[in-house]
Order: sequence, then C-alpha cells, then structure tokens
Amino acid sequence: MNTSHTPVPGHRPARQRAYSGQARSYDRDTGVFQPYRRQLVEALPLDRGQVVLDVGCGTGLCCGLLRDKVGPRGGVVGIEESPQMAAAACERIAREAWRNVTVVQSPAEDARITVAADAALFCAVHDILQSPGALRNVLARLRPGAWVAAGGGKWAAPALWGMNLLISMLHAPYVGSFSGFSRPWRHLEQLVEDVQVREMGFGSGYIMTGRVPGPARPVPVTRTQGRQVPRPAGHRRPDPRARPPARPASRAPWPAP
Ligand SMILES: C[S@@+](CC[C@H](N)C(=O)[O-])C[C@H]1O[C@@H](n2cnc3c(N)ncnc32)[C@H](O)[C@@H]1O
Repeated sequence: MNTSHTPVPGHRPARQRAYSGQARSYDRDTGVFQPYRRQLVEALPLDRGQVVLDVGCGTGLCCGLLRDKVGPRGGVVGIEESPQMAAAACERIAREAWRNVTVVQSPAEDARITVAADAALFCAVHDILQSPGALRNVLARLRPGAWVAAGGGKWAAPALWGMNLLISMLHAPYVGSFSGFSRPWRHLEQLVEDVQVREMGFGSGYIMTGRVPGPARPVPVTRTQGRQVPRPAGHRRPDPRARPPARPASRAPWPAP
C-alpha cells in the first residue's frame, strides 16, 4: 500500500473539491508543462540515495523525475491532500512498480512525515507556498542544509496586462487564490538561505532554490536562464537558532528493489 492517511479535523473541503474533479484529466490537461517540471527537478540538487519530499505531488507527475535522481536506494515521499489526486498518484506508482515512492494523503500543514528528508520540491503548488503553516511543517522535516526548489506561474510585469489575462485563465483551475502571485516564493524565502530565483517566460514563471540553514555546502552552479530576481530590501536572513535540532542525514526506509 502506497498511501498513509492522517485524518484531520477542519479539512479544507472547497480546496479538495477543486481537485476531485480534475484527477482523471489532470495529466492530459497539464502534460504540456512536463518540460517545465523537468527543469524544476533539474534545479533541485539531489544525490543518489537521498530522500526527497514532493509537496503537493498531485497525480505524481514529478515523482518519476525525482526517482531518476535519487535512484532505487533513495526515496520519494509525495504529500497530497486531495484523495482523488493521491489515488491517481498511487495508481502511477503501482503501474511503474516504484517501490521507493510513497504518498502521504494529508494537507501539507498537518502531514505526518516520518522521515528526515534531504530535499523538498514545490512544483506548481501556489496555495501551499502561501501557507506558512504548511511550509513550517514541511521544513521541520528537512535536515539542516537540505535544498528546496519551488516553481510555477506568477504575474508578469503589470504593463504586460494581456499576458496577465492569459496567465489568470491558465492558472485559475489550479490556484485557490491569486494572493501573492507576484512573488509566490515570498514566504519560503524567509525560511531558507542561499536563495536564487530565476524568472522565465517574460516573468510568467519562476524557479526558486534555497537551502535550510545548516552546515555549509557548496552552492551548485545551475544553468542560468531567465532573469535573476533580487531579494526585497529589508529581507531577514533565517535565524539558524530558530530551526529544530539537527537530525542525522536520512536513509531511505525501504529496501532497494
Ligand atoms: C497544480 S497541482 C500540482 C501537482 C504536481 N505538483 C504537478 O506538478 O503536477 C497542486 C496540487 O497541490 C495539492 N494541494 C493544494 N493545497 C495543498 C495542501 N495544503 N496540502 C497538500 N496538498 C495540497 C492539490 O490537491 C493539487 O494536487
């Protein structure tokens, strides 16, 4: 069985309903974004044998890409609140016989993540990125020095109003609220260091990477494409004393096939 479910009082039924009707057509409707998912996964520094969280994994379209990076001895843990999307992810996992990919069906705010992970991916999950509670819960399960990568749509410059009209139509089915859509990584950047942001598609998309405060690791050299986005004035660096105590680097809790 690939799912575990954490029953949570006070669920967000409206948010779940939005995805319950999309689960069957989601792969077809968003397949065109697969090269972009690939680009985001490439931007996330990962070694073989590591464990990575796929936050808001949906039907699991990033899971295979992540699994390719961590290899059969690493692990991928999807977190997904919609039962229908999580079920579709589990079908994919079973079909592909990925023994080291699991799904926790729960809101990211409350997910019980039982591994200390080495990295986290936030692909096209604007609502999760706007939830400080979800970010806190996920980042608390990352070991010090772990990398995060986030990417998705965003508003282009206001002058490009025609493009922004298209962006709103394109993303409306997948975004609960457009609040924060000018700088979707605004909460995440407060919690990590070594932040790099690249905008692409005339500002209609972005990739952000950063690292949980912890032991120094070299910043990887990534292919530079698009515009580097500066941090806002007055940005606070994360306080390393505020993070949870160090945990040992995780090992995959499942056997290699
Ligand atoms: C646009 S889809 C992206 C799915 C996948 N990451 C991809 O690249 O295709 C957003 C997903 O995030 C999930 N989601 C939204 N809010 C969530 C939350 N608070 N906790 C867990 N999952 C959430 C939705 O149910 C949906 O499956």
